[in-house]
Amino acid sequence: MTLLTPKAVLEQHRVVICVGTGGIGKTTVSAAMALAAARAGRRTLVLTIDPARRLADALGIDALDNEPQRVSLPGPQSESLALHAMMLDPKRTFDGLIARFAPSTEVRRQVLENPIYQHVSGALSGSGEYAAMEKVLEMAESDDFDLVVVDTPPAQHVLEFLDSPRRLVEFLDSRLVKLLVHPAMAAGRFGAKLFQRPVQMVLQLIERVTGVGFLEDLSAFLMAIDDMSDGFKQRADRIRETLAGPDTAFILIAGPGQEPSRNARMFLDHLSEARARLRGIVVNRMHLWPGETPPSPELLNSTVPQADIDALAHALDDPAAARAAVSAASEMANQAHRDFVHTRILREHAEARRCFFSEIEEAPHDIHDLQTLSAIADALTVEDEVANR
Ligand SMILES: Nc1ncnc2c1ncn2[C@@H]1O[C@H](COP(=O)(O)OP(=O)(O)O)[C@@H](O)[C@H]1O
Ligand SMILES: [Mg+2]
Repeated sequence: MTLLTPKAVLEQHRVVICVGTGGIGKTTVSAAMALAAARAGRRTLVLTIDPARRLADALGIDALDNEPQRVSLPGPQSESLALHAMMLDPKRTFDGLIARFAPSTEVRRQVLENPIYQHVSGALSGSGEYAAMEKVLEMAESDDFDLVVVDTPPAQHVLEFLDSPRRLVEFLDSRLVKLLVHPAMAAGRFGAKLFQRPVQMVLQLIERVTGVGFLEDLSAFLMAIDDMSDGFKQRADRIRETLAGPDTAFILIAGPGQEPSRNARMFLDHLSEARARLRGIVVNRMHLWPGETPPSPELLNSTVPQADIDALAHALDDPAAARAAVSAASEMANQAHRDFVHTRILREHAEARRCFFSEIEEAPHDIHDLQTLSAIADALTVEDEVANR
């Protein structure tokens, strides 16, 4: 049976979206996968969220300016390789959208400075979900890149993220907006007397309480938004098409413990509910047994025969060191065994879906330099060679 490999997935798609709960290394793995793709010759952008400070420095994105930055890669042929990184700034992406759809600079200024816009855009882009999707589309459609690797914002439910374009459209079509937009537009165009009385009373009350020029703001905002909402809706549709299309792969990043693998299974359910194309599962921070063969039952059960321990003590000429070595090895074996058991379901799931399954070993320290990222990228591709044999 041929399984997909990470290398094939990175070669065959234009968008790779990494999903999973926060804290298990999604940002790290996204960056490592992007690096692997760049080293295979693809012009790659990693669109990242909230990297640790030193990783941001290593990627050259310490300045948050919402534009792709070229990562200077170490190594001999690095000149010819193109890896770019970009840190997402949801609020500015949203403002960029307004700028794109606003019919004039005057409308643009009115909307951006409008307190209601500021409130609504804060609410919509607060989680970064819609903004991330918007940027993915913009970058995926750009001729500058062959591949965009996306590190998704931590969402409780992956559907929240996949659904964000639809939710925006729903918001624009919502009864609240409809209720407010028509009278408010009427007020703007024909004067306040056409206002339905209850709405007017509510708005006046809000205005009195907040001291904000609510009616004026509202009508200016909603009129501008109404003109733009077709643009938004078309974008939202395009985002949905891109996500559901054959050029987009979803990769689940999971952790090896009991709780992380439970969370991962929840993500798998949500992904299939959303009909997302899952192409691979990466378990990060695995404890792997270094031997060629699995650890022996004696080591796992801490029942290594005394004769063996004695022989080791003799060879080392140090009985205490021999006992310590055996106990450390037994602990490692058990940790690796636990991780193996907890991730079994994920492994089976990947096999059943013909996805790749990769493990990344727990490093002895945090990962915030390109060298360590390279080692992870290597690990992902070395596995390919094994899988391809
Ligand atoms: N395989 C690993 N071994 C050791 N530390 C890791 C590994 N993967 C990630 N880390 C560290 O774990 C922390 C969280 O990783 P990060 O990628 O920011 O997670 P997330 O994006 O899922 O919140 C970081 O400090 C990172 O350096
Ligand atoms: Mg992260």
